[in-house]
Amino acid sequence: MNAQTETQALPEKYSKNLRILHWSMAACILGLITVGFIMVDLDKEDSLRPTLFALHKSFGVVVMLLLGLRLRERLQGPLPAPQPGLDAKEQEYATLAHKALYALMLIVPIAGWAHSNLHGREVKFFGIPLPKFFPTIEGIGGWTGEVHGYLAYGLLVIVLAHVAGVIKHRYKDHNDVLPRML
Ligand code: HEM
Ligand code: HEM
Repeated sequence: MNAQTETQALPEKYSKNLRILHWSMAACILGLITVGFIMVDLDKEDSLRPTLFALHKSFGVVVMLLLGLRLRERLQGPLPAPQPGLDAKEQEYATLAHKALYALMLIVPIAGWAHSNLHGREVKFFGIPLPKFFPTIEGIGGWTGEVHGYLAYGLLVIVLAHVAGVIKHRYKDHNDVLPRML
């Protein structure tokens, strides 16, 4: 098969599984950031606090599981051909943003898990106790939660840049990439 036939054989959009995974993970992540912001500001005595923390951790684990499925699906391919009409610089920025998003989708929940374990707290998945991967360190302080929080803010910033890129291509350059993910 020559290079041209190979290019023609590539699909125009992401596979159905990758599209479902993209939107379900995006919904979980945006929900986790919103709940994360709300729960840390609640009064220690607020009865909603333990419920939101438990839900936050469980859905954080859901993101980890979906990420595993997504990476497997992505490695199996085939992936759509690069969007025609994007110049090399735009393509480079988009790829860089996608790589950063994948990295943070892994690092942010690991940091959350580490924060819980380091403070001696077990992570439960909808009530099911999960392994303790990090040791308890007495008096470690709140900075581990801050690391998790700042990484999550970083993820949010890149998501906003990612969405701005999609909007720009759709409405400004008229080189719409959205149908590739719909
Ligand atoms: C992609 C997944 C996740 C996102 C986007 C996320 C996002 C956030 C955000 C935005 C906050 C609030 C930070 C602040 O304003 O201080 C937060 C707090 C927290 N998250 Fe996550 N989180 C995720 C996964 C997890 C996981 C898997 C766990 C544990 C297993 C977890 C445990 C926590 C805990 C314990 C806090 C409170 C931190 C503190 O008290 O300082 N998170 N998260
Ligand atoms: C938490 C939110 C989000 C995350 C973490 C995220 C992550 C990603 C990642 C990693 C990719 C690359 C896919 C791959 O090559 O395997 C991607 C592609 C894409 N995303 Fe998102 N996304 C989010 C939200 C959104 C939203 C809200 C939109 C709609 C405006 C969107 C539209 C797209 C489109 C159109 C593509 C395909 C881009 C292309 O092939 O050129 N994403 N997203």
